[in-house]
Amino acid sequence: MSFPQTRMRRLRKSEALRSLVQETRLHPADFVYPLFVSETATKAEPIDAMPGVFRFPVSEVAREAERVYKLGVPAVLLFGIPARKDASGSSSLKSDGVVQQAVRAIKDKNDRVAIITDVCLCEYTDHGHCGILKQDTVDNDTTLELLARQAVSHAKAGADMVAPSDMMDGRVAAIRKALDADGFQDTPIMAYSAKFCSAFYGPFREAADSAPQSGDRRGYQMDPANGREAVRETLLDIDEGADIVMVKPALPYLDIIAKVRAACNMPLAAYNVSGEYSMVKLQAAQGLAEERRLALEVLTSIKRAGADIIITYHAADAARWLAE
Ligand code: PBG
Repeated sequence: MSFPQTRMRRLRKSEALRSLVQETRLHPADFVYPLFVSETATKAEPIDAMPGVFRFPVSEVAREAERVYKLGVPAVLLFGIPARKDASGSSSLKSDGVVQQAVRAIKDKNDRVAIITDVCLCEYTDHGHCGILKQDTVDNDTTLELLARQAVSHAKAGADMVAPSDMMDGRVAAIRKALDADGFQDTPIMAYSAKFCSAFYGPFREAADSAPQSGDRRGYQMDPANGREAVRETLLDIDEGADIVMVKPALPYLDIIAKVRAACNMPLAAYNVSGEYSMVKLQAAQGLAEERRLALEVLTSIKRAGADIIITYHAADAARWLAE
């Protein structure tokens, strides 16, 4: 039956009816809040490219995690910015490294918040690449060993989950093996399975001081043009033992989220990255649209596409908006 028997507007008549037929509902429990922890900061440092986001010193990070947890956001994702960088990112392995300290500080204050740690080398290497350089290329297999040791070191500090974002082949299996060998068989892995080589990471690289000093990441991150390959990457990570798979970025890759959702029954995370956040912030600051509506529409679209978990810098604000 079509018009005039069918009138789609009948169910759009009131707030109550619209609410009854709403297919996708955001909830603060969907969100993960990324946190930048800096070894050199003495107070919260604003990040120019990401209004409202800060680099926290270890001494303040627990308070921020607690604030967001109280708004109903169950998990934080930690990124470390070390005082010293070198060719192999050695400061990422130290038991008193910046992330390891932050994990302990957050756990001390509130042991119910889920702490996920980013496992990668780009914040710790002086060249800014996500692995060890051999001549001009990032060497896959020597990098695996360091990623595995970094993951174990985070688990030892008390991390509830590790999240490798480097895009080396075989890293999920290498990390799983190392965690199991050290008694961390119950520590889950959230794999950045389909991570694209994206221009939307620009603001993050300012925040984490992790831009590659030469070249780019096209030798390990995915080509934005490839959808089938994203499904393949995801299935490989599942095979290697990933507990949660991820698509990143989110907004320009909603089709990939939907494809991955259809291809597996894993919990699926999507990373609403720094450039997506700044796009909303700057648009709102220009008075072109309202931040709250922009952000909630973006987050809803990511969930509607099929994501269960949304990693977003808007987590705290969105949780507040949803509670109003
Ligand atoms: C790499 C990493 C990046 C992001 C998360 N982990 C940057 C990159 O690959 O250059 C980007 C996150 C964002 O843009 O919000 N460790």
